[in-house]
Formats: sequence, C-alpha cells, structure tokens
Amino acid sequence: MSRRGHSMRSTKVAIVGAGPSGLLLSQLLGREGIDSVVLEKESREHVQERIRAGLLEWTTVELLREAGVGARMMREGLVHEGFDVAFANGHRRIDLKGLTGKSMLVYGQNELQKDLAAARCDDAGAVLWEARDVTLEDFDTRAPRVSYTHEGTRSELRCEFLAGCDGYHGVSRSSVPRERLAQYERVYPFGWLGLLADVPPPHEELVYANHERGFALCSMRSRGRSRYYLQCPLEDTVEEWPDSRFWGELRLRLPESYARQLLTGPSLEKSIVPLRSLVTEPMQFGRLFLVGDAAHIVPPTGAKGLNLAAADVWVLSRALVEFYRKGSATLLEEYSARALSRVWKATRFSWWFTLLMHRFSADPFTQRLQSAELEYLASSDAASRTLAENYVGLSFD
Ligand code: FAD
Ligand code: PHB
Repeated sequence: MSRRGHSMRSTKVAIVGAGPSGLLLSQLLGREGIDSVVLEKESREHVQERIRAGLLEWTTVELLREAGVGARMMREGLVHEGFDVAFANGHRRIDLKGLTGKSMLVYGQNELQKDLAAARCDDAGAVLWEARDVTLEDFDTRAPRVSYTHEGTRSELRCEFLAGCDGYHGVSRSSVPRERLAQYERVYPFGWLGLLADVPPPHEELVYANHERGFALCSMRSRGRSRYYLQCPLEDTVEEWPDSRFWGELRLRLPESYARQLLTGPSLEKSIVPLRSLVTEPMQFGRLFLVGDAAHIVPPTGAKGLNLAAADVWVLSRALVEFYRKGSATLLEEYSARALSRVWKATRFSWWFTLLMHRFSADPFTQRLQSAELEYLASSDAASRTLAENYVGLSFD
C-alpha cells in the first residue's frame, strides 16, 4: 500500500541501528526464518570504517560462528591467551588460558561490521542505510510503527517488535518517557586518546600500563597494525596531540623493556573518547527492547562494550525465536532481568579495572592503595584469577 511521497512496509522485527548489535540480531533472526528490517542513519561505508573495539570474548566468537559470519574472523583473528599488567616499571602476565581455560580473539569491530553487512545484504532490503529522522511509535501496543526518511521519501515500517540497537546517542532510549526508566551513570574525569598505526606492536600480547603520568594501553589489530591508547584530560583535542607527542608520551608510560621495542609510524586514525558507565533499567518497554550501547555503556578498560552487546543480542534472539516457534512470551518477559544481571557484573568489573589502572587524583592515600592493589594482583593467583575470570567474560546462566 502506498501513497505518493509516502510508502509503507511491514516486518516482524524492526531494528534501529546497524552497529554490531543490530546486524547480528538481524542475522540470527534471518537464520531462523524471522523477517526483520534494519534502519541505519549512516552510510554502510561510514559504519564499516569506524575504529572502535578490538577484542572478542570466546562466547562472542562462538555466537558469531553460530550466526554464520565467523569464517574470516577465524582465519584472520589472533588468539590471545594472556595479557600484561605493567606498573612500577615492571609487568605481570595474566595467564587467561591457564587461569580460566579461555582465550580472547583480537578482531577489529570494523572487520566484524564488514562481515555482518556482507551477510545481511545478501537479503535484499534487509538493511536500509542512510535512513534519517527515525521515530518510534506505539511500542506499548501489539502493532508498533517506525517512521523514517529514505531516499527522500517519508516511509512507515509496521512491525510486531522493535529492537533499539542505536547506541548511546540513538533515538530508542530517548523515545521512552523519562519516568519509565532509571539511569545509573558515572562520568570519569578523563578520556582515552587512541591512535592506529601500521607498525608491529611492542609485545605479542596486550599491555595495560599504570603509570604516574596516566594509563596507557598497547593493543593491536594484526601483527603489523597496532592500536594504542593514552589517558588524557577531557578537554584535550586531537590537534594538541601530533604523532610525535603521542609516541613520546607512550614511551614514557611503558616499562623500559617495552618502550625499547616500540616502533613508531604515521597515524592512520586518532580520536578521543570520554569514559562513562551507564545502565538503563529496565531494558524492555512494551514491545521495545533496548540492546547494547542503547541501554548501557562501560569504559573500554575491560574490553566489555562489544561483548555485552553481543550477549544482549543472544538473549533477545533466543526469546524472539521461542515466541515465533512456540508462541511463548516467557523469555521475552525475562529479557531485561537476564541481560541486566550480566550488564551489572560487567559494569562492576569495568569500573574496578578503570579505577585500578588510571591516575585519578593526586591524593597520596588513594595512590598508595592503588599501588598496594597492583602488588597484590601481581603476587596472588587468587587476585589474578578474579581479574582473568571477568576479563574473559562470565558464563551465561
Ligand atoms: P553502536 O556500535 O553504537 O551502533 C549503533 C548504530 O546505530 C550506529 O551504526 C549508529 O549510526 C546507529 N544510529 C544511531 N542513532 C540512530 C538513529 N537515530 N537512527 C538510526 N540509526 C541510528 N568498546 C570496547 O570494548 N573497546 C573499545 O576500544 C571501544 N572503543 C569505542 C570507541 C567509540 C568512539 C565508541 C562510540 C565506542 C567504543 N567501544 C569500545 C564500545 C563498542 O564499540 C560498543 O560497545 C559497540 O559498538 C556497541 O554496539 P551497538 O551495536 O550496541 O552500538
Ligand atoms: C582495542 O584494541 O581497541 C582495545 C583493546 C582492549 C581494551 C580496549 C580497547 O580494553
């Protein structure tokens, strides 16, 4: 049915946002024969070029394989069995595999976006890129609607369920009346300055460094491409950080053994992100479900953001499959509680690891407590195991 200048379409699940949450949900539903349409405000190229997370928990890896998008990831991803915590010019290896039996996979979020988009775009019309001015309506009824502008035409998508996968700045969370949700938030008094360069990393595993000048992280995307982060004041701009200043500062914050190995090169990308914790409760409002960053944000220190998003998708996709297969809404009603139980544990871990690794205050008492905790971590298998267990991701219940 359509009028001039206005078109209408219907689907079972309307998904707002084509980040990892939206595309993965659409892909998992598609494999179960459940029709969905993804509305994304940016272009496909823009989404695929955004440099964000880089570390996948094994549960996320398994989920991506189950979704049929794991082939390139398994060929090109790097398996990491441990990482280093550096402080006081020394370092301690956290043996993830030895302590938990689990490993992590280094695979860039933008590569994952390419794999997911390629899989979804086989299904013509499943993703509408550059869908602007999305508005959500009637999500308290059995017939929610989404209006949007695509290729100059204002259109309407009728659906049975709505998934808000549109990230922290999206329209889904803000469509819910303020009095129906609680938001728990912490804003940290610094940001992360990230730099990507085609140079080999100084060490084959990730290095998280606590230093009196501030936190530093050596990560990677491949054996020849490194990703580095420096704690920086929130008011700093990228222009104040020419490459030479970045490399000089990074060298100062790493233990000498790694600083000596550091190879520098021109930056491919440089950006500053603020650090924040946010949890929205509940994550369901009638037939609208908030998923991933639309519902919660963690500081990147624990590498949990993308993995939490994948966990939400897993819980929601199972619930929708149960609804369409058996007509039961039990798992849908449990979505919020199940997702939040994991979200709060990851929020606690990300907050704790952020506190441990960053320079927060000049207060000597706080600083000595931090040093004592780092020494305890380095000398205690129990403390290392607790870190490792949370880092590799807690198991689903
Ligand atoms: P997103 O990836 O944010 O996807 C949401 C999508 O919705 C986007 O494509 C957006 O364009 C679209 N959208 C937004 N508003 C609308 C609208 N109104 N209509 C239609 N579409 C809309 N995590 C880590 O673990 N490590 C990191 O180093 C790290 N770095 C990050 C750097 C940045 C700049 C950001 C923003 C996040 C970072 N994260 C990191 C977090 C991680 O990338 C996210 O947790 C992950 O992307 C969550 O996926 P998502 O699909 O839920 O949300
Ligand atoms: C990254 O490679 O971007 C990365 C890795 C680990 C983190 C955060 C970011 O904790």
